[in-house]
Amino acid sequence: MSLTKDQQLEYISHLVGECKKCDLYKTATNSVPGHGNSNAKIVFIGEAPGAQEDQQGLPFVGNSGKLLDKLLSTISVPRTDVFICNILKHRPPENRDPLPNEIKVCTPYLKAQLKIIKPKIIITLGKFAMNYFFPGESISKIRGQVRKIIWQELPLTIIPVYHPSAGLRNGAMLKSLQEDFLSIGKFIKDN
Ligand code: URA
Repeated sequence: MSLTKDQQLEYISHLVGECKKCDLYKTATNSVPGHGNSNAKIVFIGEAPGAQEDQQGLPFVGNSGKLLDKLLSTISVPRTDVFICNILKHRPPENRDPLPNEIKVCTPYLKAQLKIIKPKIIITLGKFAMNYFFPGESISKIRGQVRKIIWQELPLTIIPVYHPSAGLRNGAMLKSLQEDFLSIGKFIKDN
């Protein structure tokens, strides 16, 4: 008997909850494997859980999440239609940047999630998620670009945008995010 997509994702979440491959589980309250629709056409990938996410075990529920919700509403995409997750599944202390080894040991979970969901479109939020697909590239240069790639035998359209937390700190970046979401909305309508 084969498992449903929801059951497969639940199994990944269980593995994440037990994970001790790096030290982040020691300081985290909860793991934040990701949340959303297992049949999503669109997956959003952020950087790592923050304080609110760590408390609730859910991605993008703090201030960045509120901005993400607003941006989603401007393109009439309900959060229940998408899947949202992060590069790291446990919160780094003081929200510091993910370390290379943390990314290395944690991203197999992301890879497994994407292979289960098989989305058509991935929106990367910030540089760490962008660099997972495009190592060495610069977010300020490629944000807003629509890039079609074959990744792990999956045909994907990747659209990198700034991280919502950058939009909360900087008006110019917020404007870029709003513009990029309008392009995302148009791309979704046309595809
Ligand atoms: N920032 C992220 O990158 N991910 C979250 O889940 C919340 C804030």
